[in-house]
Formats: sequence, C-alpha cells, structure tokens
Amino acid sequence: MSETTIEKTFDIDGSLVVITGGNTGIGKETARKLSWAGASVLIACRNLEKASSAKKDIETETGNPVKVLQLDLSSFESIKNFTNRLIGQYGIPDVLINNAAIYSRKHIKSKDGIEMTMAVNYYAPFYLTSLILPHMLELNNEARIINVSSDAYSFGKYIPDLGKSRELKGFSAYALSKRALMYYSFDLAEKLLNTNITINCVHPGHSATGIWPSDTWYWKITKAFISINADPASYAAENIVFAASSPDMCGISGKYLSNLEICNTKDNIFNAAEQKQLWDFTLCELEELGILK
Ligand SMILES: NC(=O)c1ccc[n+]([C@@H]2O[C@H](COP(=O)([O-])OP(=O)(O)OC[C@H]3O[C@@H](n4cnc5c(N)ncnc54)[C@H](OP(=O)(O)O)[C@@H]3O)[C@@H](O)[C@H]2O)c1
Repeated sequence: MSETTIEKTFDIDGSLVVITGGNTGIGKETARKLSWAGASVLIACRNLEKASSAKKDIETETGNPVKVLQLDLSSFESIKNFTNRLIGQYGIPDVLINNAAIYSRKHIKSKDGIEMTMAVNYYAPFYLTSLILPHMLELNNEARIINVSSDAYSFGKYIPDLGKSRELKGFSAYALSKRALMYYSFDLAEKLLNTNITINCVHPGHSATGIWPSDTWYWKITKAFISINADPASYAAENIVFAASSPDMCGISGKYLSNLEICNTKDNIFNAAEQKQLWDFTLCELEELGILK
C-alpha cells in the first residue's frame, strides 16, 4: 500500500501515550497537549516529586487524569522494572515517546558502566523499545514510536564503538547519541515494514530548557544566546505531538521531522554499513552486559 492510499484512522483520543521525561521541558508540554487532545498520558520520570507536580499541573488544566511511573533511564534494571509495571498495570502503549535526554559536560558512567549521555539518550530508548515492541507486535494495533532527536545529530562524528574506548563527554557525546538514535530508528523502521507499527525521529526545535548546563560562565552565556533565539517549549512540543497524533502520519515510518514536516536528513553523513554495524554493536554490548539474552 502506498502512503497516499493508507486509510487515515489514527485517533489519539483514549490512546495510551507513554512519554519519558514528561515532568519538565518539552516532554511536559507534549504531555499537556496530548492530554488536552484526550490521550491517556503516562509520564515516566526518575524523580517522582517532580512527576507528581507535573501531573497535578496537567490534570488541573485539562481535567484528564495523568499516570506516573518511576523510570531511571540510566539503569537497565529500572527500565526492565518500569516495563513490567507499565504492561501489568496499564497495558500496551499505543504511542511511545522516547523524549528524555541529557547533556553532560563531564565524562560520567552509568551504573551499568556506559558513558552517561550514551546510556540515557541512546541505549535506554533502544532497550525500552525492545522490551515494549514485542507486546505491540502481538497486539497488532496501529502503534507509533517517536524518538526525540536533535539537529545536533549532523555534528555527531560516528565512532564504531560508540565512544566506549574514549572519554566521551559534552557536545561530542550528545551529538553522537542523537546520530545513533537516528540510525537505530531508521534501521528499526526497515525491520517493521509491513507491520502496524511506525517509528520516526523528531527534532523539536531549540528551547531554553533544563537540558543545557548552566554551571559555568561559558554555558551561562551560551544559554542566554539560546534563549534569545529559542522557541518556547510548547512550540517545540508541537512537533512531537504532530508525529504522535496526526492522521497525516498514518503509515509513515523511518522519517525525520522538523517544523511539522518530514525533512531530508543530511544523507552524506549516513550510510547503510554504519547503520548495520551500530545495530550489531549495540546488541553485542547488551548481550555482554547480560541485558539481552
Ligand atoms: N531544548 C532544546 O533546545 C532541544 C533541541 C533539540 C532536541 N531536544 C531534545 O528534546 C528532548 C527533551 O529535552 P528538553 O529540552 O525538554 O530537556 P529537559 O527540560 O532537560 O528535559 C529532559 C527530561 O529528561 C529527563 N531525564 C534525564 N535523565 C533521565 C533519566 N536518567 N531517567 C529518566 N528521565 C531522565 C529529565 O528528568 P529530570 O527532570 O528528573 O532531570 C527531564 O524530564 C531531548 O531528547 C532533547 O535532546 C531539545
């Protein structure tokens, strides 16, 4: 079936939407908008205090209940526990939005021994999706996975071992994590052809949120510049909401969206061999850690 002949039926009203990092920034605005649209929103957050304050704000405004579950994306164990609770208590999501991410100025390792930016921004959505996907496939309803990327991907120098052998940090870690997320999404879209599940990447736009460091003079000035030209988080969220809920996105998969439209990626930096190598490398890493068997 071609994209133009697909019946456009997706209805966000009543759909279960899981948003990682939905307690603040662009994720919270996405949760708010989808809640207004009638979705049954679940925010997956590491800090339950912040999460319940976001839940209260959104519920007061929309009158639609918001669910909260604890999730620390820097821990594979937490991701597994979260998925079990999600499926057990609330069922299989119709939409999974892998929104949460960090920018770490310093080289820090996660509990599982992975550089923190790569752990949260790349390995976590990879693993979380791999746990939820078999349930989506079994249910066979139309479902959407949205990976929130960034136009920073185009600055990500591809490193075959994802920086394992170096002191990855700062912008190089952030840009590589977003490039890896794009490769992963495009690869998964190919594997999901002829299923009811689509996966797309979104660049939300630039917003002066908490993701940017503010603990040095350099970053205080940089953040001030970002603020001048930034979009409000509510505008940035529109891009994610579009990918998650628009009937125009029915059957569309493996794309990169920005400014409410499908954009061309900088193809000169993507290649199929790297994409396949990344998939195989990630599986090996997760197997080595005993995460995937
Ligand atoms: N802001 C921009 O200019 C911009 C531009 C391009 C792309 N993006 C992308 O947009 C998405 C949202 O970013 P944002 O700007 O809204 O940033 P933000 O305000 O810092 O929000 C990030 C969210 O991720 C959560 N998070 C971080 N580490 C986590 C962990 N280990 N476990 C669970 N949750 C964790 C944070 O939770 P806590 O509140 O507990 O820290 C927060 O809810 C990210 O994918 C980012 O890369 C942003």
